[in-house]
Amino acid sequence: MQAKITAIGSYVPEQEIGNEFFESIIETTDEWIQSRTGIKTRRFAGEEEYTSHLCLHAVKDLEDRYGISVADVDFIIVATVTPDQAMPSVASQLQDKLGLKAAGAIDISAACAGFAYGVILAQGLICAGTHKKILVFGAETLSKVTNYEDRTTCILFGDGAGVVLVEAAEKGNILAAVTGSQGDGGKDLYMSNSRRQINGQDVITDNKIHQNGRAVFKWAVNTVSEKMVELTKKAGLNLEELTWFIPHSANMRIIEALCNQTGFPIEKTLESITLYGNTSSASIPLALHRGIKEGKVHSGDRILLIGFGGGLVFAGLVIEWP
Ligand code: UT7
Repeated sequence: MQAKITAIGSYVPEQEIGNEFFESIIETTDEWIQSRTGIKTRRFAGEEEYTSHLCLHAVKDLEDRYGISVADVDFIIVATVTPDQAMPSVASQLQDKLGLKAAGAIDISAACAGFAYGVILAQGLICAGTHKKILVFGAETLSKVTNYEDRTTCILFGDGAGVVLVEAAEKGNILAAVTGSQGDGGKDLYMSNSRRQINGQDVITDNKIHQNGRAVFKWAVNTVSEKMVELTKKAGLNLEELTWFIPHSANMRIIEALCNQTGFPIEKTLESITLYGNTSSASIPLALHRGIKEGKVHSGDRILLIGFGGGLVFAGLVIEWP
């Protein structure tokens, strides 16, 4: 049995935050934000709106768009670094709210690579024959863990959720996968609560995101450009045969640098950074779904997606859109 992604849904909260919001609270400009990151707007969840709520909206969107029910889903994976609580998991909350009596449920932590990791795990469960229908979410409420006094990070983040349904099928549509980590860069992007050191260095323990932007930028461009080529080869393809490339939307300049480095045409990339900011694990499904809704992505398209971020960690997939 193979694994096939068959459907997608997404949701972003209503509250749209323009760059002028940051001009009013820190020393910055719309021009700086747009030219350094590509971000025009992002969405913030309401005060009492949490990651599980965004996930419920996203799965409702999936059901409505495809005219299907997820009632027979037997496993839920939620990739997030901003769960409503550390325990219970968001996945368990969804299992209850969706009334999925027979579903297993876990949250996974792989930051901006979380969605790709989730799909790879779902593929593993399906190919092992233990599960048949799995929901994989990438969902975040990063606005709740942002330090609004740190101008180097607060302008970056937004909230949102995406979900795909992965099902057992005779012929799957996940052509290749790659995973990896470089844990010695953990201190360069973190959200620490109790332990005061990472990689032997002191860190801030305020449960907010902290980042060495330049270090992560450099690591991301070098690693992802290399893995992009490796992953494409693993799928038996060359870069020209890919229809779309969806890197994690961390920064438009990273996407441009990846295209420059690999010679991949920027017109064939899909992003969610300009409208939604950096939404970590949600950024890839948001970009993919946006591409579908805009009529760009069609059945049979070969799509390479790669997530990268806090860990440091990365994961990528080549899929054929159903
Ligand atoms: O999603 C997980 C993975 N994350 C990433 O991949 C993020 C990777 N990094 C980045 O996207 C970029 O490094 C940032 C957008 C975070 C920062 O952009 P940068 O071009 O690397 O800026 P920088 O940190 O090198 O700072 C350049 C200047 C500094 O001033 P000086 O020292 O040159 O005088 C900063 O203080 O820009 C200043 N600066 C700002 N100015 C206006 C930093 N933040 C701001 C700001 N507004 N918001």
